[in-house]
Amino acid sequence: MSAETPVEVRGLVKRYDGLVAVDRVDLTVDPGDVFGYLGPNGAGKTTSLRMMLGLITPDEGTVRVFGRDPQASVDALEGVAGFVEAPRFYPYLNARTNLELCAALDGLGAGRREIDEVLDTVELRDRARDRVGGFSHGMRQRLGIAGALLRRPRLLVLDEPATGLDPGGMRDMRQLIRNLAATGMTVLLSSHLLAEVEELCNRVAIVRRGRVVYEGTLADLRATAGTRYRLRTTDDSRAQAVCQAQPGIESPTLTAGLGISFQAASERAVAELSMALTEAGALIIEMAATHASLEDLFFALTEGAAGEGAAGERATGGGPSTSDVAVAP
Ligand SMILES: Nc1ncnc2c1ncn2[C@@H]1O[C@H](COP(=O)(O)OP(=O)(O)OP(=O)(O)O)[C@@H](O)[C@H]1O
Ligand SMILES: [Mg+2]
Repeated sequence: MSAETPVEVRGLVKRYDGLVAVDRVDLTVDPGDVFGYLGPNGAGKTTSLRMMLGLITPDEGTVRVFGRDPQASVDALEGVAGFVEAPRFYPYLNARTNLELCAALDGLGAGRREIDEVLDTVELRDRARDRVGGFSHGMRQRLGIAGALLRRPRLLVLDEPATGLDPGGMRDMRQLIRNLAATGMTVLLSSHLLAEVEELCNRVAIVRRGRVVYEGTLADLRATAGTRYRLRTTDDSRAQAVCQAQPGIESPTLTAGLGISFQAASERAVAELSMALTEAGALIIEMAATHASLEDLFFALTEGAAGEGAAGERATGGGPSTSDVAVAP
């Protein structure tokens, strides 16, 4: 466990009564990552982040932040800041006073200058004298980040920071996170929005019912789907037989009225198939590559049948059909 690694989680488990909220989660957040912890409601995101921040105790497994155990002592959280669900403030005090209280509690010596700085960063300087009770949800989220920044974190942990914000608020929040990441800060954020994670994060862990079903880059996830081809010919039954016998052509499936769908080991194999079809007298009417969208893959991972992990499917409007795409993370 390296002192340089912002987060290393191994075999993390949290149970509530009969429910396994977090189920043997392993993940590593490297320095400089903007890491997305992505999953639908109830997947166990907040519970996992709570354990990483030492707010609740795991039933099994280990958490290390910069090599230290957040359960062992508050000191282990040096260099780490963030909040889960929503930041809490005294509603009858203004933003500046709330931040002064945060700074005093932290004891890290943040003074007036640092408070001005973080208020500037989250664009709340002109609202600093207003009572937090009158703040919008987006302003509170930004104030929460300001409070976290007072700790001068090397790792910022944010639980669905843009959820509940209007489109303009979401855009501002994402810009703020990008700006912080550009300073070299490592960010671990949870989200249920694929597009948000795709926009912000260099790496993701996709969680489903407490388990990580994919960890890596979204580009690699896209690549796991491979390319499928759609084929229609003058004689699809014969073409199906040709596909089955053809080297490099995988899992051909004939659907009446729709033609054949297959995967190919290479483009060369597709080119050779076209010759074999012509020789067999099944003349090509249409042969086209179809790509699964990232959204299709995400839904396949997070909404697939229980126990299959990644083999579910979901029809989406507009995009190419992926009814036969199975993802093996
Ligand atoms: N304190 C608790 N007591 C009982 N069950 C809990 C508790 N905290 C979480 N759970 C359960 O654990 C599961 C995961 O909850 P969690 O809040 O971690 O999900 P989440 O991914 O953050 O969801 P959301 O996107 O809705 O915030 C849920 O089924 C939830 O009901
Ligand atoms: Mg949550």
